[in-house]
Amino acid sequence: MPSESVLSELLAKFAATYGRDPAVVAYAPGRIEVLGNHTDYNEGYVLSAAIDYGTFFAAAPRDDGTARLTAGDIMETVEFPAAAPERSESASWSNYVKGCVALLGDRLGPPDRGFDAMFLGNVPLGSGLSSSAALECSAILALARLRGASLPKLDVAKMGQRAENEWAGVKCGLLDQASSVFGEKDALVMSDFRTCEFKPVSFPPDVCFLMCNTHAKHALVDGAYNERRDRCERAARFFAAALPHPVSALRDVSWDEWTEHHGDMDELDAKRSAHPIGEDERVLAGVELLREGDAAAFGRLMFESHESSRTYFENSCPELDAVVDAARGVPGVLGARLSGGGFGGSAVVLVERRAAETAAAALASAYARRFGSPCDVRAVSCSEGARVVRG
Ligand code: GLA
Repeated sequence: MPSESVLSELLAKFAATYGRDPAVVAYAPGRIEVLGNHTDYNEGYVLSAAIDYGTFFAAAPRDDGTARLTAGDIMETVEFPAAAPERSESASWSNYVKGCVALLGDRLGPPDRGFDAMFLGNVPLGSGLSSSAALECSAILALARLRGASLPKLDVAKMGQRAENEWAGVKCGLLDQASSVFGEKDALVMSDFRTCEFKPVSFPPDVCFLMCNTHAKHALVDGAYNERRDRCERAARFFAAALPHPVSALRDVSWDEWTEHHGDMDELDAKRSAHPIGEDERVLAGVELLREGDAAAFGRLMFESHESSRTYFENSCPELDAVVDAARGVPGVLGARLSGGGFGGSAVVLVERRAAETAAAALASAYARRFGSPCDVRAVSCSEGARVVRG
């Protein structure tokens, strides 16, 4: 959980804004994606983790049907009918929550009362650490509890994903929300996005993760993400026609099959599809390596994953490449790759725990030498997933 100071600040601002205390507070963490990039919507595998940065969402019921929602960082408030939220152009941040309110209405029936709500977190925005999933999952947990409901974890994740798909316009997969709700302390989450099974995988205690936020633009809502997704779906349709066995998603295609058939495909579809297909195989190999305690070999898979992003999926950028290239030469670093959608945001670095501090400083200054100012490097811990913390 982020420092208690975030919660205290939220409670103080809530009381000052609404003149009372919240009845419910929920918390949901951001996530790191460790291996398996753009595999979730291809029904594949990912190793990820919930982190110790997240969002608190506080709410209290009202006697009328009005919903008042305040973003605790910028202290901007929007008001809307709780039973009929509408998308906002001017306060686009509110759409993530309005989507959750609408979907909860579909699930639980129209609310008979409104609410006052406020959220505040410490996941850096646009960093590729899923601040939006943290907001969605904390909002769903808090607002469901306010209505006396408790939803299964998978339903919370799917509802958050739908809010993002339908209200924020990003056709994201389920990874961010699933990592936020299924996270466990000191473990990675191994997700199978076909069966929707989420299992903890422990990793050697002498290694840890650094996140390097490049602050480069994170262009998910600009359509690059949706375009990659379309390419993958087209490639899956090609393989469904070309292979003798059923293919409903790229998950069903092996690297050997890609190698044999990619020459017959649209060139760009071939290139894009190579990435999730290779990533699925790396995730399965990575789980075995972690079971054997071989963090060094696992780290090499992370470097391979980044190379595949860079060359096949083209969702890296010079800033992310610079972090990963620098990481290769830093003592104690075992692996590095971009984390999440790509096109900016953060790189995740696997490092020996005893070398973490010096590695962080070395990465920040290597980045500064290249771009004039350091990237933001922080140690992150694998943490427990989303939950109601009060009420
Ligand atoms: C973003 C999306 C996820 C996933 C990753 C890439 O984080 O929200 O659904 O597709 O990119 O693996």
